[in-house]
Amino acid sequence: MDRLTIEGGRPLEGTIAVSGSKNAALPILVATLLTDEPCVVDNVPAGLRDIKTTVRLLESLGKRVRVGGASVRVTAAGSLKTQAPYDIVQQMRASVLVAGPLLARFGLVRVPIPGGCAIGLRPIDIHLQGFEAMGARRIADEGDIILSAPRLAPGALRLRFPSVGATENLMLAAAATPGRTTIRNAAREPEIADLAAFLVRLGARVEGAGTSAVTIEGRLRLKGARHRVIPDRVEAGTYLIACAAARGRLRLKNAEAGHLTAVIAALRRAGARIRFGRGWIEIAMDGRPQPVSMRTAPYPGFPTDLQAPWMALMALSSGAARVREDVFENRFLHAAELARLGARISVSGAAAAVSGVEQLSGAPVMASDIRAGAALLVAALAARGRTVIQRVYHVDRGYEDVEGKLSRVGARVARLK
Ligand code: EPZ
Repeated sequence: MDRLTIEGGRPLEGTIAVSGSKNAALPILVATLLTDEPCVVDNVPAGLRDIKTTVRLLESLGKRVRVGGASVRVTAAGSLKTQAPYDIVQQMRASVLVAGPLLARFGLVRVPIPGGCAIGLRPIDIHLQGFEAMGARRIADEGDIILSAPRLAPGALRLRFPSVGATENLMLAAAATPGRTTIRNAAREPEIADLAAFLVRLGARVEGAGTSAVTIEGRLRLKGARHRVIPDRVEAGTYLIACAAARGRLRLKNAEAGHLTAVIAALRRAGARIRFGRGWIEIAMDGRPQPVSMRTAPYPGFPTDLQAPWMALMALSSGAARVREDVFENRFLHAAELARLGARISVSGAAAAVSGVEQLSGAPVMASDIRAGAALLVAALAARGRTVIQRVYHVDRGYEDVEGKLSRVGARVARLK
């Protein structure tokens, strides 16, 4: 298993090119299951493990996939299967998104129930309730869920929580269901709006994506399309927070500041100077961060995916900050690892109290999920001495060429195979 070694305490100076959004690319690639015509998806972070897993998933269902740089071409290769393989779903929970398009097109789908993971139980009840409200019947069988509906019916759906995955799954199903489906209390994340833009290119009508009421007018036959994925706001936010922790001056290109409003506001309160324009964001930081408390919330709130990196930054603040996690029930595993670097954090339920220290120091640590890994990276870049991050495959799920990007802006990061 690969490890990353970081010699910390060096400021970040230079430019990082932000990749396309992993969490937008995943549902868009899955949306190619809605058509038999060729699709091309550009600006895909194709080096990421989760994207490679998605390519394998599409191939296992009968698509032909060609990856060339950041462009992914998906074409038909015979008829599609309606059963998602267990080993792939276990590796990547977002695999359950194939349920929507396959159920809508073929009236039947079989998907293994994804297990819980390090950040929480992560049930899929909201997805299933939505499919049932569209007329699907659910049968559980040996750990798999079988959904059947000779023909899904469009309808008025209301989610009990604005789940990103459930909103996407139901949009995918509705796009291939003739008639008008409305999803209320829908997730408002930018990735939802990007999926909507792709569905429109395929020939569906979608209104309201990015608001809490999304209306989809589906069609029986959708066509092929080409689409460019939005920039990865979580990757961009991670590098901004890393620069605030390690200090220096960083320019992000291919970045969208409009998707990071809550994070930029928090960084400014912490003392960072931030400027942005069309497609770029610049950050400069020279002192110790001010303490800034925050709580995670669905978009446009502070993203849960940046809570762990934020905690790493606050570990260095000049006071006490509170961090609340209100999206996932168990997303604080990084607190104990940050403590190994000298952070002072006490966790109680969904809240963590962070008392800033002047200096962190390098140590061996272990990543437990993608963003916990990112938090360790942020802390390690700022810490004095050498940190070794184990289980770096978690980081590789969400950060393309992390050591290359950071090395080019002055960090000492190396991968040990
Ligand atoms: C997406 O996960 C992202 N993943 C996550 O990013 C992100 O943290 C999350 O949205 C929240 O922003 C992808 O886009 C591939 P949810 P998703 O459904 O769709 C509960 C990363 O680091 N819930 O909005 O799974 C759930 O347990 C990943 O890149 C139910 O109770 O998130 C959680 O507590 C990690 N029942 C909350 O809702 C359901 O049926 C939010 O989950 C569905 C969700």
